[in-house]
Amino acid sequence: MAEHTRHDAWQAGEAYDAYMGRWSRRIAPLFLDLLDPAPRADWLELGCGTGGLTGAIVDRCDPRHVTALEPSEGFLRTARERISAERATFVAGTAERLATLPAAAFDLAVSGLVLNFVPDRLAALGEMRRVTRPGGAVAFYVWDYPGGGVGFMRAFWTAAAALDKGAGDLTEDRRFPFCTRDGLLDLARAAGLTSPSVAPLEAASVFADFDDYWHPFTLGTGPAPGYCASLPDEARARLRQRLYDTLPREQDGSIRLGLRAWAAVSRAG
Ligand SMILES: C[S@@+](CC[C@H](N)C(=O)[O-])C[C@H]1O[C@@H](n2cnc3c(N)ncnc32)[C@H](O)[C@@H]1O
Repeated sequence: MAEHTRHDAWQAGEAYDAYMGRWSRRIAPLFLDLLDPAPRADWLELGCGTGGLTGAIVDRCDPRHVTALEPSEGFLRTARERISAERATFVAGTAERLATLPAAAFDLAVSGLVLNFVPDRLAALGEMRRVTRPGGAVAFYVWDYPGGGVGFMRAFWTAAAALDKGAGDLTEDRRFPFCTRDGLLDLARAAGLTSPSVAPLEAASVFADFDDYWHPFTLGTGPAPGYCASLPDEARARLRQRLYDTLPREQDGSIRLGLRAWAAVSRAG
């Protein structure tokens, strides 16, 4: 495993939701508002995780059906428990290999917070284009890592890098520099998608108190929690203290940090 992907653990659904799923659920509806899909559409979703975006599609978009792919069995289990099988089918698989899906079978192919983790992004987008009907939408969003769009993660890595120089190489802004407006436009064009446009999706993450902020990092699911859980006890305690001392607080003790993702919407031919 490459050094910088060493901590990309995607297994436990509840740990994922405590760390990221609760915030990905804030962003998913904003993406769907931007997409403004017709009802009774056939959807394909790649990298559905614990079903944050899938649930929003089912609740808000009146789909005919959603086919949701995800490589992690643990996440699939959580998604299946949460979302009725009547309107969503959860399938094990990766974004780059949709060979079992026929061409032009879906009205929309989407993914949320996934493409930066996919080793061959062009292959994934090429597959999304292939399985989408001509004129259908191929759309995805990723966090604005280079612009500090995940404030709680940026604060964690800033503190970690101050104590451990090696942590600086693990940060998402270094690993995923393409997650900018121009980077996504270039990617969509390189994948042969038509009329790409990119827009920001913005919300806030509010943590009730310091423990609400810190606890998810100790659960080991996701790159920063994976790093945190790998530290010896003493080093983890130093990191906790540094964050405790440096994080901004509201008057009521809560911690409010910004969220920004970039959403790219294109047409399939
Ligand atoms: C940050 S999570 C996003 C999950 C969910 N879409 C959400 O919005 O909460 C990233 C997801 O990408 C999945 N993933 C990683 N590599 C993938 C690949 N090659 N193809 C499809 N999904 C992948 C992970 O298993 C994980 O569920």
